[in-house]
Amino acid sequence: MCGIVGYKGKKNGCEVVLKGLKDLEYRGYDSWGIAALNGDIRIVKDVGKISEISLDNLGLEHSELAIGHTRWATHGGVNKINAHPHFAQGETFALVQNGIVENFQELRGELKAKGHQFTTETDTEVIVKLIEEEQKSNNDLKAATISAFNKLKGRNAIVLIDKETQRIIAIKDGSPLMLGIGENEYILASDISPLLSHTKQVIFLDDKEAVVVNDTYQIFDIVSGEEKEKKVQTIDWDVEQAKKGEYPHFMLKEILEQKHTIKQALVQDPELIQNIAKEINNAFGVYAVGCGTAGKVCLAGTYAFSQIAGKHVNFAFGSEFPNFHHFITSKSLLMAVSQSGETADTLEAIETVKDKHGKVISLVNVMGSSVMRQSEYSLLLNNGPEIAVASTKATTSQLALMILLAYASAGRYDEGMKHLNEVSDKVGEMLGENYLSSLKELAEQIKGSSDIYIIGRGINYAMALEAAIKIQEVSYIHAEGFAGGELKHGPIALISQGMPCIALVANDETKADMLSNAMEIKSRGGYIIGVSPENNEIFDYWIKVPDVGIASPIVNIVPIQLLAYYLSVARGIDPDKPRNLAKSVTVK
Ligand code: M6R
Repeated sequence: MCGIVGYKGKKNGCEVVLKGLKDLEYRGYDSWGIAALNGDIRIVKDVGKISEISLDNLGLEHSELAIGHTRWATHGGVNKINAHPHFAQGETFALVQNGIVENFQELRGELKAKGHQFTTETDTEVIVKLIEEEQKSNNDLKAATISAFNKLKGRNAIVLIDKETQRIIAIKDGSPLMLGIGENEYILASDISPLLSHTKQVIFLDDKEAVVVNDTYQIFDIVSGEEKEKKVQTIDWDVEQAKKGEYPHFMLKEILEQKHTIKQALVQDPELIQNIAKEINNAFGVYAVGCGTAGKVCLAGTYAFSQIAGKHVNFAFGSEFPNFHHFITSKSLLMAVSQSGETADTLEAIETVKDKHGKVISLVNVMGSSVMRQSEYSLLLNNGPEIAVASTKATTSQLALMILLAYASAGRYDEGMKHLNEVSDKVGEMLGENYLSSLKELAEQIKGSSDIYIIGRGINYAMALEAAIKIQEVSYIHAEGFAGGELKHGPIALISQGMPCIALVANDETKADMLSNAMEIKSRGGYIIGVSPENNEIFDYWIKVPDVGIASPIVNIVPIQLLAYYLSVARGIDPDKPRNLAKSVTVK
């Protein structure tokens, strides 16, 4: 959560940082702030969305050294005082942070006892005061910052500008930070998007590394204090991919990109897939782990591995996985699924496995992300940036790769590739104008509902859960997914007259039971929206999807993504930036 940008170069840093923060707004959008050096450091900050701010009304002069922040509040309410950057005493430096200082209460108590006064409720101010405290015994700001940072617990990244030396000092441990290297300019950012319009050369900072940016840059290990050489990597995303273009929202753009993104995800080195399949087959205990939508993909993966490869894969959400650490050994294999590759809960699951010397493979979209760097093998989704908060194109690509791995694990890689490429073509055919219009009409029809239920069985149980999260997050309608068979054990009591219930009825061994479950709902007044290759008299509304066997989750979730999108728009919500959420969840 939270987006950080820093700039040092010859351009107007305020403009670069402002634009960069707009690119990062999906990481948090409750408040924002920019600090720029022009003799003195000046800070401008406010509550609200950075997208509504222009360079003219920012009111900052041309500056070649600037930092900025877009906030997703953790400690302290959403107000101007708590917004970043935060000044040091005497305005000698200004600092922004992404993360949570887990020991902030303890540190704040100690600092208060030493006479420090706090004006905000944030954990960020604790870092500022801690640095000031360290400066009492070490006048060098870089050394004081490193020393203070080493006292923090939790996943954090900080960036500060120093008035005296006119440099940027940044450190990361657990939260993402990268350094873009342009021509006589440097840009620090929480992810790639702010860099794209300036440079494709990037250094991904590793945990416990600091970078000092002046006319050049130096990277240090914050434990040993030694300077380090780091590889400069070239990013293969381009700036156009990160633009909305003619689309009203990124969410719609990204849904429609699924015409080709599944195919792009399938472009992998066959040897790499075979090697991963070997690791899966040789492991003693395979765990598919992700959060939110990526978690639902993992759950779907357990069914795909069971059906295609006769293999038991365990599933847990990232935040729950560490509770199973008792079972993890050096023979365990974690399949980590993450669009951003920066989700704190997923990273913690990876650490749990690493602590026991187990192996990690990952499916990630963002090149150079923390999840990718901590994996023995990684499959990149090749989907370009996914910017809308709701995951769409990454979901279907992750599903496709998960199913492909199941095929490869069963020694049927070629068959899997053929099948999934056909599925990709069928998704392309689905996403025509008429299909979009019919889902828009359905959204208009049910937009006033207070509840929507979704049922599925087998691999589509995972998609019932995913459908619910999609509808919840962008439409704010209470939506819940259930296993079709579980309904009669309790949730059926909630069905009332006219309540929309979406039944994911794949043409597989669950079909007959799913239709019975849909009938049970209909008998109690539910309005049945069937998502199925064939119509059925039980359905009050039919959403047609192609019959694609075990890959049915891919085609079933696409119309639900569209329905969620149109529900959001029909209810006057911005689907790209729904309330309370952020795209990259880098806190626990
Ligand atoms: O970047 P990740 O895939 O690790 O993100 C995991 C979840 O935070 C994410 O899928 C979230 O649930 C989405 N907003 C769902 O659309």
